[in-house]
Amino acid sequence: MRFSKTAALAGMAGLASAQTYTSCNPTTNSSCPSDTGLNKASYSVDFTAGESSDWTLSSSSASYSSSTGAALTITESGNAPTLISNFYIFFGRVSVLMRASPGTGIVSSIVLESDDLDEIDWEWIGGEDDQVQTDYFGKGNTTAYDRGTVDNLSSGTQSTFRNYTLVWTETQTEWYIDGSLLRTLTYAEALNGKNYPQTPMQIKVGSWAGGDSSNAEGTIEWAGGETDYSDGPFTMYVKSIEIENYNPGSSYTYGDETGDYSSIVVSDASSDDSSSSSAATTATTATTKTKTTSTSTVAKSTATSGTTGSSTDSSSSSSNTTSSSNGTSTTTTSSSASATVNVSGASTLGKASVWAVSALLAVAAFNL
Ligand SMILES: *[C@@H]1O[C@H](CO)[C@@H](O)[C@H](O)[C@H]1NC(C)=O
Ligand SMILES: *[C@@H]1O[C@H](CO)[C@@H](O)[C@H](O)[C@H]1NC(C)=O
Ligand SMILES: *[C@@H]1O[C@H](CO)[C@@H](O)[C@H](O)[C@H]1NC(C)=O
Ligand SMILES: *[C@@H]1O[C@H](CO)[C@@H](O)[C@H](O)[C@H]1NC(C)=O
Ligand SMILES: *[C@@H]1O[C@H](CO)[C@@H](O)[C@H](O)[C@H]1NC(C)=O
Ligand SMILES: *[C@@H]1O[C@H](CO)[C@@H](O)[C@H](O)[C@H]1NC(C)=O
Ligand SMILES: *[C@@H]1O[C@H](CO)[C@@H](O)[C@H](O)[C@H]1NC(C)=O
Repeated sequence: MRFSKTAALAGMAGLASAQTYTSCNPTTNSSCPSDTGLNKASYSVDFTAGESSDWTLSSSSASYSSSTGAALTITESGNAPTLISNFYIFFGRVSVLMRASPGTGIVSSIVLESDDLDEIDWEWIGGEDDQVQTDYFGKGNTTAYDRGTVDNLSSGTQSTFRNYTLVWTETQTEWYIDGSLLRTLTYAEALNGKNYPQTPMQIKVGSWAGGDSSNAEGTIEWAGGETDYSDGPFTMYVKSIEIENYNPGSSYTYGDETGDYSSIVVSDASSDDSSSSSAATTATTATTKTKTTSTSTVAKSTATSGTTGSSTDSSSSSSNTTSSSNGTSTTTTSSSASATVNVSGASTLGKASVWAVSALLAVAAFNL
């Protein structure tokens, strides 16, 4: 792929957005409930077939069509339609086939976010059809240097469905557009891991009005100007989402307050825990039956060795959990974990969560 990286740290006053909302931060509270995990290695949802119970729509409504999938529409101030996964994943691939929303000040985004505010982002500014932004945060640290990028693409993002893919592992995160690599972030680059996103993430796909007149001036500027709702409605389309979860599990528990991936305990589902039939398990029914309540820990030191703990679990064969210690038999009832998902709080994808921090944005022109 050709690109001219005019790494023009243009002194450009940009803005990095972070979703700052968490109902319980495990790095400051050791009693946070576990996260409901996606208990299979591979998952996909096709919104051209209609809505999915694996996803919760926050704020406003969505409509569905067989040709364009989920239509997330902003018609007035305060709208921030967002599809939020009812489950978390722990390293993996997330591919979203979508069309960004047009509209001055309208921001479309794909956000992966964890309970301790690790975050990986894609963002599109409605006034810039052929641009995409990427960003990341670790543990809610929004001190911005050159984390955010703005890329000019050779074709638009609003009128055609394009495939935005994140490949997220403990060693690096990659952003792809239609299979072409746009950006790689390594663990080391992210302040030697301190700012590296590495804890179980929920997936949030939606749009909000950064240009709403009630927002901070810096936010409106970053979003490309003030939104005029009379130009609307403004619609983002999400056709489908494919997910690979590299560490499938019924739940994820922070083993300590470090927020380090090696502290995350991955629990398998027990087969007949009927109380766990909350939202996320609808995504996991295929795999839960054969599982026992083995528990494993992802250990940094053994990341390349073979799996040990869950070798009896035939259903999640592609898991590279590489568990080193499966001792802790915390029989995590996977049910209550969904309590960590504050659905109403999810509208924080909107203005409340945007931090008007200035960033130096590395600008690159990509041939995508
Ligand atoms: C820690 O989390 C638990 C469970 O959500 C909650 O009940 C408790 O109030 C929290 N403690 C603090 C100090 O926030
Ligand atoms: C937050 O990140 C910045 C770099 O972006 C770093 O200088 C700072 O030390 C970090 N703060 C913490 C508390 O890790
Ligand atoms: C999206 O791209 C990824 C690779 O970047 C690929 O694995 C995946 O199959 C693609 N999905 C669709 C729906 O095209
Ligand atoms: C984990 O497994 C997936 C395939 O399931 C693979 O693509 C990925 O590279 C693996 N990650 C590591 C760190 O081994
Ligand atoms: C891991 O769990 C399996 C079954 O749950 C058990 O047989 C094995 O001894 C455990 N290994 C360790 C190291 O605890
Ligand atoms: C959820 O988030 C909303 C909005 O931020 C907040 O008002 C509400 O108290 C939260 N609910 C819980 C249960 O944390
Ligand atoms: C990207 O496009 C904008 C206009 O939308 C332009 O101002 C900027 O110079 C372009 N950046 C590069 C690196 O081509």
